[in-house]
Amino acid sequence: MNNPYIPYLAMVKDIRPETAGERPINTYTLVFKDESVWDVFKNRPGQCAMVGLLGVGESMISICSSPTQKGYLQFSIMKMGKVTSAIHELEAGDTMTIRGPYGNSFPVDDWKGKKILTIGGGIGQAPLRPIINYVLDNRKDYQSLQLIYGARTAADLVFLKELQELQQANGAQVNFSVDRPEDGWNGYVGFVPAYLMDLKPSPENTIAITCGPPIMIRYVIENLLKLGFKDEQMYTTLENRMKCGIGKCGKCNVGNLYVCKDGPVFCYTRLKTLPPDME
Ligand SMILES: Cc1cc2nc3c(=O)[nH]c(=O)nc-3n(C[C@H](O)[C@H](O)[C@H](O)COP(=O)(O)OP(=O)(O)OC[C@H]3O[C@@H](n4cnc5c(N)ncnc54)[C@H](O)[C@@H]3O)c2cc1C
Ligand code: FES
Repeated sequence: MNNPYIPYLAMVKDIRPETAGERPINTYTLVFKDESVWDVFKNRPGQCAMVGLLGVGESMISICSSPTQKGYLQFSIMKMGKVTSAIHELEAGDTMTIRGPYGNSFPVDDWKGKKILTIGGGIGQAPLRPIINYVLDNRKDYQSLQLIYGARTAADLVFLKELQELQQANGAQVNFSVDRPEDGWNGYVGFVPAYLMDLKPSPENTIAITCGPPIMIRYVIENLLKLGFKDEQMYTTLENRMKCGIGKCGKCNVGNLYVCKDGPVFCYTRLKTLPPDME
């Protein structure tokens, strides 16, 4: 059996800047140096990986590409501290490490025939992206795709260009919002939970998946319930601090669960049974 602590080596193939500012976000496209790694690395939408740099450290990051995108992995990484700042210094051709894939995943196959609604805030759009790409690559299996995605300002919207193209080319309904009015912005102004109530998506045959700051998730779920969504129609992901990623160190526990192993994806039926600070 492979040692789960030994990472695979990967090469940075491409770096796409997504947002600028104090905490910029880049999307990294990585390819394994040894192609045979794909025989064992089978990621599913919603899973994460420990990405890092030798001699610096590792961080848990959502895999933001879909398994239908073959031969590479993508991670959108915000510059926060030690590891992510070092990653932001990298250039194409440099080496990174990847351990994983970790955690459970969104049950995308159980959702076949349903309307898919994603509700994201800021960098929280990253774990939702593999669902979107998976649904687009299996379009006939899903009734419809609607996105609600907000950020502080238009410049903070990650994947903006590809989401705008998606709206034009794929018949998905894409709804952007920004928190405050700004020059040149003609879309919705306000917080994501309020925009949700404005749009009033029907709960009928719909699965809603939300990810973003905890306060946003809390109000989105509250509003989905007001719109008539049932517990089993709502999903989210949790981002507790993590160290080992494999259920050994106890760093990420909530109640008697380890988010790295039992999550990060939770249906609201289970989420609402967790201790209050995690709801
Ligand atoms: C399941 C999961 C998925 C994640 N997905 C992504 C992703 O797709 N993109 C992304 O940019 N980040 C993601 N994160 C957060 C990411 O792991 C942290 O930002 C990163 O580990 C910080 O490492 P650092 O060494 O750069 O910063 P540190 O030097 O360790 O810390 C710097 C700052 O980051 C904060 N921080 C550290 N860990 C976390 C955390 N887990 N959540 C929130 N804040 C944290 C600290 O409070 C501190 O303010 C995810 C975290 C988890 C647990
Ligand atoms: S990160 Fe170690 S138990 Fe989850």
